[in-house]
Amino acid sequence: MNAAIESPPADRRVTPAWTPPAASLALEFCGMHFASPIVLLSGCVGFGEEYTRVAGFSNRDAGAICLKGTTLAPRLGNQPHRVYETPMGMLNAIGLQNPGVDHVVRNILPELDFTETRFIANVSGSTVEEYVEVTARFDDSPIDAMEINISCPNVKEGGVQFGNSPEMSARVVAACRKVTRKPLITKLSPNQTDIQQNAKACIEAGTDAFAVINTLMGMAIDTRTGKPVIGNRQGGLSGPAIKPIALLKVAQVSEVAKPHRVPIIGQGGIVSANDAIEFLLAGAAAVGVGTALFYDPLVCPKINRGIAGYLAAQGLANLAALSA
Ligand SMILES: Cc1cc2nc3c(=O)[nH]c(=O)nc-3n(C[C@H](O)[C@H](O)[C@H](O)COP(=O)(O)O)c2cc1C
Repeated sequence: MNAAIESPPADRRVTPAWTPPAASLALEFCGMHFASPIVLLSGCVGFGEEYTRVAGFSNRDAGAICLKGTTLAPRLGNQPHRVYETPMGMLNAIGLQNPGVDHVVRNILPELDFTETRFIANVSGSTVEEYVEVTARFDDSPIDAMEINISCPNVKEGGVQFGNSPEMSARVVAACRKVTRKPLITKLSPNQTDIQQNAKACIEAGTDAFAVINTLMGMAIDTRTGKPVIGNRQGGLSGPAIKPIALLKVAQVSEVAKPHRVPIIGQGGIVSANDAIEFLLAGAAAVGVGTALFYDPLVCPKINRGIAGYLAAQGLANLAALSA
């Protein structure tokens, strides 16, 4: 017998130490395969190319990327200042600066590498008709899904005016639903009285998922001039300062969405794996990372590793087991 392949006697065999199988971070979200629960948030990654020049950054570290809010016609956005750092957060009032949906579909989408991750359009508008038209044009494109932004606090018409009324929110969702079979994710506003009532109306109107939450309205004043710092007077507050509010809104929306199996992308101030896990425990299926990228563009692999480590430590094989 060949000594090299001879098995050692049974009493001398060494049992290798048991290592738990690596927990899977992949998930199915509205029929889409996400390699990670992280979704890079609209307005914080441009049109998917913003950070790809940063050494070490990869779109593959995110399960999906939401593109900048897109309207029917190009928009120049608001007067400066458009961003202002606040304690544990930032105010922004970009004003939906974008090149218009036709430019995005014709010139930007063909440049994106759809093998890297899923790409989600952020549909914005001032009228129901505009939301419908933008949705229809993205429907006729390779985009994977659409997020209906009825919660932008930084434009004079539309945006949060729709998102703060359950009836108007439902009208926008129902109208967009008629022109696409792609997944529709409704982005809810925290600037409203009863987010659960709004979520119920959107589910009845046919939304497939929710993004919870958009920014909170805020303001800063320059005491030297006595005038608001932000050119638009008010802006949307994001970052760690809003996390406890966002977490509560996710838990509230989850109560009405879970029975209908409508998943949530929880977001608002996530900067670490622990933050992300809190959102997953509150009922989110996926987690958004936005403002954190301004501090640390390489935060995603750290969050992925932290979630995987947590699942393994809990003896859970995957993310679904966390909410089971
Ligand atoms: C500079 C900036 C621009 C944004 N633009 C958009 C936008 O175009 N559409 C949208 O739905 N949300 C927009 N948002 C909101 C984010 O997508 C996200 O919902 C919010 O910032 C909360 O997450 P965060 O605290 O992790 O940033 C923007 C946020 C920031 C900071």
